[in-house]
Amino acid sequence: MHKQYIFTAEVPSNIALIKYWGKRDAAQQWPENDSLSMTLDSARTHTSAQIAASGSDVIRRADGQGVVTAYTSSSDKAVRHLAFLRRELGFSAALEIATHNTFPTGCGIASSASGLGALTLAAIAAWTGSASLTELETADFPRERLAHLARMGSGSAGRSLFGGYVAWHAGSSPSAQRIEPLAVDWPLTDIIALVSRQEKAVGSSAGHLTVRSSPLFLPRLAGLPARLRLVEAALAAHDLPALGHAIEAEALEMHAVMLSSEPRLAYLQPRTSELLAWLRQQREEQGLAAYFTIDAGPNVHIICAPHTAPEVVQRLNTAFPDLALITDRTGQGPLLYRRPTH
Ligand code: DP6
Repeated sequence: MHKQYIFTAEVPSNIALIKYWGKRDAAQQWPENDSLSMTLDSARTHTSAQIAASGSDVIRRADGQGVVTAYTSSSDKAVRHLAFLRRELGFSAALEIATHNTFPTGCGIASSASGLGALTLAAIAAWTGSASLTELETADFPRERLAHLARMGSGSAGRSLFGGYVAWHAGSSPSAQRIEPLAVDWPLTDIIALVSRQEKAVGSSAGHLTVRSSPLFLPRLAGLPARLRLVEAALAAHDLPALGHAIEAEALEMHAVMLSSEPRLAYLQPRTSELLAWLRQQREEQGLAAYFTIDAGPNVHIICAPHTAPEVVQRLNTAFPDLALITDRTGQGPLLYRRPTH
C-alpha cells in the first residue's frame, strides 16, 4: 500500500526591533516601511498536515488546556490562507491540519507570525511530499519564496521563516519586496512581562489600515531609514546600548502613531508604563543593561544579554511579584520533518 505521511513544521515567533506598522497595499501585503526582527526560539507553533482522504480542508487547533476546536470557515485567518495557497500554487488535495502553540494561547503573545508561518510550511510540504526544508528547496520552494508565501498570510510571518535577525525590505513595488536574514551572530534574551493575557480589542490587521490618519505617520516614515541603519550597525557591532536606545525609540514612536490614529489605538496599560519607568530607573541607578520593545499590545519585551537575564528576572520578580514572565532567546528558525501515519 502507498505509504501515508504526516508533515510537521515548527515555526518560531519573532519580535520586531523595527516595526512593520502600516500597509501600502493590503491585498498584496506590501508594507509602508522596512522592518527588522529577532526570531525567537521556544515560542513556536507546531503544525502538522496530511492529505485528507476526501472532502475539504479542516484545521484542528488545540488550546493551552488541550481542548481541540475544528475550523473550516473562511472567517478564520488560517483557513483563508490555506485557500489562498491552494489557489496560488495550484494544488488540489484537501488537507487535515493539526496545530498548537508551545506558549500559552491568549497570553497576549502574537501567534500569527508563527501560526501562519507553520501553516505555510506544513501545507506545502504535504502537497509536495517534502520531508525537509532542503527537499522543499528541490521542489522549487526555496526559503525566500516560502517567506513571501507566509507573508501573504500575515506580514510578520514572513520574517519567522529565517533564524537570527531578519530584514523585510518593502522595495519600490509589491513584487520587489525582499525578506532576508542578516549575517549577525549575536544571541540575545527576550524576557516577556505579561501585563495582560487578554486578546486585543483591535487586531494588528485592522490597525495597519489606519496609520495614515495619524499626523505623526509621515514624519515617522521619513526617519525610519536612518533608524534601520542604526539598528543594523548596532547588531553588527554587538553594541547593546546603541541597539537598546534605537529599539526603545522605535516602540514608543509606533505607539505614538497608534495613539494619534483615527480611531485611536490605545494598547498600553498603566502597568506597561510602570514597567518602562522601572526599567529606566534600573538602568540609570543600577546600571542594568536591559532595554524594552513593545508590539501591538501592553506586554513588555525586555531585551538583554543572556548573562544579564537571571539578574533581570530576579529584579522583576522582586519589583512585580504577581507578573508572569516568559523567557526566550534568539533562535535558529523553522524545522520541518515527516513521519509515517502508522
Ligand atoms: C506590531 O503581521 O500581525 O507586531 O500582516 O495583518 O497579519 P498582518 O499583521 P501582523 O502585524 C504585526 C505588527 C507588529 C509589528 C511587527 O511585527 O513588525
